[in-house]
Amino acid sequence: MTLGWAIVSVGRHADRRMAPAIRQAQDADLVAVYSRDRARAEEFARRHGARVAYDSLDDLLRDSRVDVVYIASPNHLHAPYAEMAATAEKHVLCEKPMALTVEDAVKMVQACRRHGVRLGVAFHLRHHPGHQEARRIVQGGALGTVALATAMWGVGQRGVVFPGPRTGREEWWDHPEMAGAGAMAAYGVHCVDLLRFLLREEVIEVAAVTDAHGSERPLEYLGVMALRFQGGTLGSAFCSRRIPDPRNDCHLYGSQGRLSVLDTLSMTLQGILEVTSRILTTSQTYQPPDDVGMYRRMVEAFERVVQHEEEPDASGVDGLRAVQVMVAYGESARTGRAVRIEPVEA
Ligand SMILES: NC(=O)c1ccc[n+]([C@@H]2O[C@H](COP(=O)([O-])OP(=O)(O)OC[C@H]3O[C@@H](n4cnc5c(N)ncnc54)[C@H](OP(=O)(O)O)[C@@H]3O)[C@@H](O)[C@H]2O)c1
Repeated sequence: MTLGWAIVSVGRHADRRMAPAIRQAQDADLVAVYSRDRARAEEFARRHGARVAYDSLDDLLRDSRVDVVYIASPNHLHAPYAEMAATAEKHVLCEKPMALTVEDAVKMVQACRRHGVRLGVAFHLRHHPGHQEARRIVQGGALGTVALATAMWGVGQRGVVFPGPRTGREEWWDHPEMAGAGAMAAYGVHCVDLLRFLLREEVIEVAAVTDAHGSERPLEYLGVMALRFQGGTLGSAFCSRRIPDPRNDCHLYGSQGRLSVLDTLSMTLQGILEVTSRILTTSQTYQPPDDVGMYRRMVEAFERVVQHEEEPDASGVDGLRAVQVMVAYGESARTGRAVRIEPVEA
């Protein structure tokens, strides 16, 4: 069965990755797009082959051809837009971070459950085949007990220490009340979710330092966090907008061996999986680089979830856990203290 998709907010990510991914995915039909500006919605719809353009979210949600709403709006709008979509009985695939507060994330999970719709979060790294293989290897025990797990996702421009403020439709990224965090909201939550995905363990404590600096630089360009997982693994994650030559890798060090995914924390499906352990030594390269691959796989996975009434990967609860870590990271960076994360039911 083909599902009708709608894109809510037609910014850079929707344009470069997700609209092409929906177009390329099997059994997905890009029905509708929403922008605050009608001309922009129409132009986007024409370019990506959507059937209809809306400048009213209410009108889009009344369109019976729409089954799934993909929310790619500024971060502070994820929660209200997801609740509107759920009330209209549309399934929701929401961008990360799922919400700015734990309370909003809980409400999103509850609203989708109440209205009988699925809530997924666009942690596309879960759809990299190397990460999926790494998760199987960890679960199979080839690394023994994992003691240390590290992940890094940084970007930057050569010669630029602090990129200047953004303008126009991207300005929201520089406002704490809209973005929620700086490098953490953009990249760090992906690191945290990838570590949770690989280890199948929850983060129970966070200690963070960042380069945020009062009102002059309220959002961080570089964040470093130490993580304690509930199974005893210790971790670290680095997220940045000021590292032009990053090693965007993840490493797991266990009692029986080591696993690395190299250059896979990216929007492009690429990189290498390497395992060196007592019972398994393997290396796998993912090429050629595919700019849309992980996103197409994510769309197709969400379609299966809707059609077979399965739990999404990542689910709303995974989104909630990442929000808890993001909020704890902010508190730790502000107070200079490690922050415990208590279980929250949704
Ligand atoms: N998973 C990933 O790999 C990935 C990668 C990049 C981004 N993302 C996520 O995707 C979302 C969008 O990111 P982006 O980089 O595409 O953003 P963007 O290009 O900066 O903007 C998104 C769109 O939101 C609308 N918008 C901007 N300011 C607004 C405001 N104040 N109120 C209401 N609407 C506003 C604008 O669309 P209109 O003016 O047309 O309405 C804008 O084009 C974010 O949540 C981000 O975290 C995920």
